[in-house]
Amino acid sequence: MSMRKGAWILIGTWVLLGGPGGGAAESPALGEPLTSRSVSALDFTILPDGTGLPEGEGDAITGLAVYQAQCRLCHGDGGEGGPNDRLVGGRGSLASAEPVKTVGSYWPYATTIFDYIRRAMPLYAPGSLTADQIYALTAYLLFENGIVDEDTVMNAHTLPKVRMPNRDGFVWALPEEVR
Ligand code: HEC
Repeated sequence: MSMRKGAWILIGTWVLLGGPGGGAAESPALGEPLTSRSVSALDFTILPDGTGLPEGEGDAITGLAVYQAQCRLCHGDGGEGGPNDRLVGGRGSLASAEPVKTVGSYWPYATTIFDYIRRAMPLYAPGSLTADQIYALTAYLLFENGIVDEDTVMNAHTLPKVRMPNRDGFVWALPEEVR
């Protein structure tokens, strides 16, 4: 880097940090400070190992009723698909000429099902379901995919232990030390 370029970067950094005064009081009045409540409304990711899962529980039997009322319209009977994504089946098809990617055949972690439904579904009203309903829907989709029994209770302890069929079907892009 040339001396001149280095000097400009230094000046740029100094201006960004607030120039001679440097205090927040002199910063432009843009945005507002985040409260812990506003952070928790956005920061609700569930990790593959289940970190972040809330309290609550549900099984496929209760999940079926929620599915019929809230999801069937777009994902079809039993998750067969239509008009939107198919959620069930396709197991063993990934390496074939016509791979069918579904929650059951493709997704490596069961905990992602909870995360996805909570943040995105139903499409027209994400965030409207209770934790119990989401656990029940997760159990229902796992049941329809032949992964758990209809009365297997899903909660923060049991869900991370579910092993998805395609768990080992992904190649890590990062070396083990930095994962
Ligand atoms: C109004 C239609 C609609 C409703 C109702 C709806 N979904 Fe969806 N769903 C979609 C669409 C569209 C997508 C694809 C979104 C995308 O790829 O960005 C999707 C994607 C999904 C996926 C991810 C599928 C994949 O393999 O990527 C899951 C899981 C899912 N929905 C579950 C549900 C559940 C559970 C409900 C009921 C609570 C529900 N959806 C209700 C339209 C809907």
